[in-house]
Amino acid sequence: MKTRHFLTLLDLTADELKRLIKRAVDIKAAYKRGEAYTPLKHKTMAMIFEKSSTRTRVSFEAGMAQLGGASLFLSPQDTHLDRGEPVEDTAKVMSRMVDVIVIRANNHDMVERFAAHSRVPVINALTDRHHPCQLLADIQTYMEQRGDIAGRTAAWIGDGNNVCHSWMQAACRFGFHLNIAHPKGYGPDAALFKTCREHVTLTEDPARAVEGADIVVTDTWASMGQENEKAERLKAFDGFRVDSALMQQAKKDAAFMHCLPAYRGHEVTAEVIDGPQSVVWDEAENRLHAQKALLEFLLTDKPK
Ligand code: CP
Ligand code: NVA
Repeated sequence: MKTRHFLTLLDLTADELKRLIKRAVDIKAAYKRGEAYTPLKHKTMAMIFEKSSTRTRVSFEAGMAQLGGASLFLSPQDTHLDRGEPVEDTAKVMSRMVDVIVIRANNHDMVERFAAHSRVPVINALTDRHHPCQLLADIQTYMEQRGDIAGRTAAWIGDGNNVCHSWMQAACRFGFHLNIAHPKGYGPDAALFKTCREHVTLTEDPARAVEGADIVVTDTWASMGQENEKAERLKAFDGFRVDSALMQQAKKDAAFMHCLPAYRGHEVTAEVIDGPQSVVWDEAENRLHAQKALLEFLLTDKPK
């Protein structure tokens, strides 16, 4: 059977994603009841991280331990990748030794090349283009708190970045609409937009984007790797901050979401992120439960 990877949300069908979210909810409930569930005993997960991480690293390592498996974390200095060993050779070698490989990479191309030469599933733990694991947790969070996301409207305010791209693919797979408000020149990838324009609307007006929205979501204005553009971006994104006035223009019970790390006073005010409509801590926690469901999906023969 062909090895399944999870490089973008489109690697799973809509049905598989919906079932995976349901499993995440069940796995979370069983974990909270204190039940042990260790289907990944004797399995090993390698993690190659080219960039910093708090949530993704901790949730994958904790999740693998809870499922009975082991994990090993490799920063750039820990492998020969940094010294020029080809990605393809690394993939061939590592995938003969471990059962799953989680990668956070600077360039999306790296995870694609790695996956093409890996015998075992490769999971994208964030690249410059996508962050699909984040969206599993975000959809789980919305469903737990507000019900089915199909037919709802989400408003993305800010940078058309990696997380925004995964929200666009989520809109297609889960059947909701995404309004994206971005400053001129900071929109999402045009080719990706073409593939999901039925589910995505672009605007440069944050107020228009949040009108009637069930979810308001944002992210940092300068992603990892864009540190030297920070000053220029702060200027460009002026007017794209999620504050209470903007939240009031969305639906009354709209949820505020953010993948974190957040920069209070830049893309969101403290009042909003620390306020009653914010679900960011549940979103962060659900990284653990959703990724446990993903590992179960990829590594066990539980019916898909
Ligand atoms: N949201 C997220 O992926 O956070 P980390 O960068 O801390 O992993
Ligand atoms: N867009 C952010 C997300 C961090 C989880 C980044 O790539 O840095």
